[in-house]
Order: sequence, then C-alpha cells, then structure tokens
Amino acid sequence: MATTSPFLSLLLFSLFFFSFSSSATTFSTTNRRIKKVEYLKLPLLHKDTFPSNPSQSLSSDIRRLNTLYSSLLHRSAKLPLTSGASSGSGQYFVDLRLGTPPQRLLLVADTGSDLVWVTCSACRSCTRGRGNSAFLARHSSTYFPYHCYDKKCNLVPNPKGVACNHTRQHSPCRYEYSYSDKSETKGFFSTETTTLNASSGSSVKFKKLSFGCSFEASGPSITGPSFNGAQGVMGLGRGSISLASQLGRRFGNKFSYCLMDYTLSPTPTSYLLIGRSNTVNGSKMSYTPMINNPFTSTFYYIGIESVYIEDVKLPIRPSVWAIDELGNGGTVMDSGTTLTFLAEPAYRRIVRAFKRLVKLPKADDKTMGFDLCVNVSGVVRPSFPKMSFKLSGDSVFSPPPGNYFIDTAVDVKCLALQPLTAPSGFSVIGNLMQQGFVFEFDRDRSRIGFSRHGCGKP
Ligand SMILES: *[C@@H]1O[C@H](CO)[C@@H](O)[C@H](O)[C@H]1NC(C)=O
Ligand SMILES: *[C@@H]1O[C@H](CO)[C@@H](O)[C@H](O)[C@H]1NC(C)=O
Ligand SMILES: *[C@@H]1O[C@H](CO)[C@@H](O)[C@H](O)[C@H]1NC(C)=O
Ligand SMILES: *[C@@H]1O[C@H](CO)[C@@H](O)[C@H](O)[C@H]1NC(C)=O
Repeated sequence: MATTSPFLSLLLFSLFFFSFSSSATTFSTTNRRIKKVEYLKLPLLHKDTFPSNPSQSLSSDIRRLNTLYSSLLHRSAKLPLTSGASSGSGQYFVDLRLGTPPQRLLLVADTGSDLVWVTCSACRSCTRGRGNSAFLARHSSTYFPYHCYDKKCNLVPNPKGVACNHTRQHSPCRYEYSYSDKSETKGFFSTETTTLNASSGSSVKFKKLSFGCSFEASGPSITGPSFNGAQGVMGLGRGSISLASQLGRRFGNKFSYCLMDYTLSPTPTSYLLIGRSNTVNGSKMSYTPMINNPFTSTFYYIGIESVYIEDVKLPIRPSVWAIDELGNGGTVMDSGTTLTFLAEPAYRRIVRAFKRLVKLPKADDKTMGFDLCVNVSGVVRPSFPKMSFKLSGDSVFSPPPGNYFIDTAVDVKCLALQPLTAPSGFSVIGNLMQQGFVFEFDRDRSRIGFSRHGCGKP
C-alpha cells in the first residue's frame, strides 16, 4: 500500500498497534447507557447489479484486485497478470455518519484494505447534496487533522520529502495511500466523531475514529464508474487502522456480514454487524482458522486444502494453496473484490472439470473473457455441477452454483473464476462467491465462521 518502503511501514503498523491499543477508543452513547449496546448494525447496500458496459466493470474488478496486492508489492515489481475478463461488478456499500452534526457518506465495505477514508472538501460555505457529496470538514466541530508530529501519523504512509516541522502549529499529518494499480488517495490523516446505529435502536458515538480526509484521489479503482458514486472506502482489514480494529475492541473484536444475492428482486437488506454474528444461533457455523502471513497485516487469509467438483477431489498439490517463505500465495477473503481468483494450476483443473461435466452448448461470444461460458437459451432450469472447498479446520465451503455461474449476457452464463498467474499473487474468494452466507470474522479467536443460515437476520 505504501509507495515508500512498504515493508517498513508494515512493521511500524504492528509495533504501533500494540502501543496505541489502550488509548484508541472513546465511546459514549446518546443515552449514556453504554452497557446496553451489544453491537453495531450497519445496513449493507448494493448499488450496482450488472452495469450496461461489462468491459468497464471488468476492468474495475481487475483493478480492484490489484489493490489487494498493494502491501505485497515490495517483493515484486510485477502486477498480477490477469487476462481480460468480464463480469458484473458488484460492490457493497455502508452508510457512515461522520462529524458533528453528522454527515452521511457512502463507503465501499472492504475487508481487503485497512484505511478508512472519505472524500473531503475544505469548503466553508457549501451545502451537501447533489454534485457535492464530499465530507465538509469545516462544517464539523469535531474534525481535527492529526499533527504531523503525532505518533498516530506513523500509522499511515507519509509522502516523501515532506518534513514535519515540530514547532509549527498547523502542520497536519499528510498521508499517501496508494494501491498497486497506481490509484491513490492523499490528504490529512484525521480524527472525527462517527455516529453508528446500535442493536438497541440507540445510536452510538465513537469519538476518535482515525480516518483519511482525502483531498486528492486518482486512479481507476477509486474514482470513476467503478467507484459507483461512493465517497470513500471503509477498510475492514486486520491492520490497526481499519474500522474493524478501531471499533472492534469495544465489541468483542468481531464483525460479520451477509452479502445478499443482489440479482434477487426485491433485493433483501443485509447488515454489517460489528460485535456480533448475524446468526442468532452460532451452532450452525463452520469455522476455519485465519492464517497469518508475516509479510502483511492487512488480509484475512484462510487455508484451502482441496477442491471437490461433484464430490470428486481434484488432483491439486497442496503447495498450490500455500503461503511460501516470501509471503506469496495463500487465499484471502475479500468483500471488495467481485470475482474469485484462483492459483493457476488449481484454476486449470477446475475449468477442465467443469468443461467435462457441463453439457450445455458453449456460448458464441468470446468477448466475455471467461474460459467457460454456456448458452442457456431455451433451458428452463440449467443445472451446474457442485463445487466445494475443503478448508483448514475441517470445514467445507459449498457455495451454490449461482455463486460461480453468473449471467454475463442474455442467456449466457459463465464460470466466474479467474486464474492467478503472477507468482507474487494470492488467491481471492470474492464477494460473488460469498453471497448468501453469513461470514463472521472473529479476530480474537483468529477464525472465520460461515453459515448458510442467518442471512437476513436479525
Ligand atoms: C518551523 O515553523 C516555524 C514557525 O512557523 C518557523 O519559524 C521555522 O522556520 C520552521 N522550520 C522549518 C525547518 O521550516
Ligand atoms: C439508523 O437507524 C435509523 C432508525 O432505525 C434509520 O432511519 C437510519 O437510516 C439508520 N442510519 C444508518 C446510517 O444506518
Ligand atoms: C435457535 O436454535 C434453536 C434450537 O436449535 C431453535 O429452536 C431456534 O428457532 C433457533 N433460533 C433462531 C432465531 O434461529
Ligand atoms: C444461444 O443459442 C441460441 C439458439 O440456439 C442462438 O440463437 C443464440 O445466438 C445463442 N447465443 C449465444 C450468445 O451464443
């Protein structure tokens, strides 16, 4: 993520995480009955079904994937080479109320990055609304940029060549958070009050949310159509500056979500819950341990042990899924990436197996960029082979075929997988594959739970 010496800044992240953890949070509720607040409840919104221009969404997704690689980039100058593919792009958004009085902002919910940032405006006499959706920092009485000398400033990558003048009063902490596709947000690392809805129906004020007040954003993955009118990103990663880390400690250090199938009509509402799992009864959850990669503190890695198609185990060497001694490889759960990207050798096996089993006619149109597309014209209920992933911790993730055979055009369904070819990359379980499951990120117990029951609750 950093442009300068990311390795160093990652080290700093983990060091400061420990030294700051005790002072990081201040909570108060509007009704002062703090103990009644069990968890925070943020509706998850989906703005985009399948956009009119698939190639646009495709590139946005590939670019989005690239952002995942940001913190691993120091070991390889090469970006992952992903061939042109097409898919529906889908991001999930969260409403965040920031400032005093609160201003509403729509952020991409992203488990694949850490920084929470919003588009900021320094305008003194603006009104928010159409055409001006930025956060108006000067309209908030609780907005403060950190001083560049503040130790919190070490938590974010700082721009090169900007020395901090200790004695100057107005010397804000500048951050420069760049993604590997060269998308970048720059601005002031700041603190603000955020107001969140709690389970009890009251609202909770979190007084010291550290976030990036972005005055400059560039690059495809965080501007333009792929960003879908969002005003920033809510980083939910494992790093210390993510929302999950900053708020989570107060709420048992866990969060959960259920990404609803947005092709359903009407689209069901789902929630990002901070502090609790969507399932009322946790008993039905399957768990897989979070795996640590010593080279990055951001991503939620899980371990894939094998892949089954129609209950037949594919011959894939376990090393295909492993994190190597340089931190390459492995598999990441990411809410901010749409498609699923799998290590090349595994991908080839899976595609081959599907090609053998799917008897439907191939679709003519090859521009989709997927290796397997079928023509379902005239087929009332096309059925597809079952795929399941055996995960570490003796659990099995069996997504319904609708999570991996997706509509890309009228009467065309494609296998929504992409090969990962760069040796420095890692596999990604994207948000389409996660649909209809509750995922619980239990950070204290270092495990990820999932269940097909509980979506739509509470
Ligand atoms: C730091 O700021 C002070 C006060 O504005 C100024 O007098 C001083 O020259 C600055 N030092 C540097 C190295 O820029
Ligand atoms: C908070 O809850 C209220 C009442 O349930 C609702 O109207 C509002 O939209 C919610 N706000 C956010 C940001 O979720
Ligand atoms: C929880 O589990 C119990 C027993 O398995 C069941 O009777 C109950 O309906 C469940 N509650 C919910 C909300 O799913
Ligand atoms: C699908 O099949 C129908 C009927 O055979 C044909 O008319 C149509 O062009 C095909 N579409 C694609 C994308 O292959």
